[in-house]
Amino acid sequence: MRLVFLGLAGAGKGTQALVLSEKLGIPFVSSGDMFRHHLSQSTDLGRLAKGYMDKGELVPDEVTIKMVVDRIEQRDCRKGFILDGFPRTLAQAEALDRALGKGPVEKVLYIKVSEEELVRRLAGRISCRTCGTPYQLDALPAQAKTCPKCGGELYQRADDKPEVVRKRLELQWPEVQGLAGYYAGQKKLVEINGERPVDQVGSDLLKAVGA
Ligand code: AP5
Repeated sequence: MRLVFLGLAGAGKGTQALVLSEKLGIPFVSSGDMFRHHLSQSTDLGRLAKGYMDKGELVPDEVTIKMVVDRIEQRDCRKGFILDGFPRTLAQAEALDRALGKGPVEKVLYIKVSEEELVRRLAGRISCRTCGTPYQLDALPAQAKTCPKCGGELYQRADDKPEVVRKRLELQWPEVQGLAGYYAGQKKLVEINGERPVDQVGSDLLKAVGA
């Protein structure tokens, strides 16, 4: 199964990709997590990406496309994968179509959430540095400093500062609309109401992929 998650920052793509990947037994590939991993390893790509991510801007297509296409060509993606945060531009979507050739993307799951709720979620998000799981600060036990799932360090992402959040949403909106149109044209787009409890969104996603 080759799936794409589409949605604005904070829509719940990462949250749902983690669960769906486990349920379907296929890896999830998050371009944002890959950049953050490069950053933690101080690679050239990590340093380049940081300059864009800290400002809420997109990392240039050429480096992003190469990084993700190389990843989905690995052996563990042969039975399928879930893409989270990629494609983000039409050029990336077209490059993905070319790279996949006769085994194209099957479904694009567009998680829709109002802007007001996105801002609220991102302001209260705290993430695990090790496994990447995102939490809401007010849903964790008071003074929790480690990830309940893996014990990793919890931190607030640099791009979750209010001024960067606003810029990310502003920049992402036209790109997401363009991609929704692109995949609707290919009859692959499924819209999911993401403004409900996590498990209800998850069960709609499972239905949408026929699992
Ligand atoms: P990336 O890491 O992909 O960030 P994003 O798309 O901005 O998305 P987020 O991770 O912020 O949100 P999400 O939808 O995963 O929500 P989450 O599940 O965490 O990208 C970061 C940066 O990297 C980009 O700005 C760009 O610079 C660069 N980049 C990445 N990909 C790129 C690409 N393809 N091209 C170019 N540049 C790229 O949930 C959010 C919060 O809400 C969490 O706290 C969660 O616990 C909570 N939550 C989730 N679901 C619910 C629910 N149903 N109800 C209540 N709370 C919920």
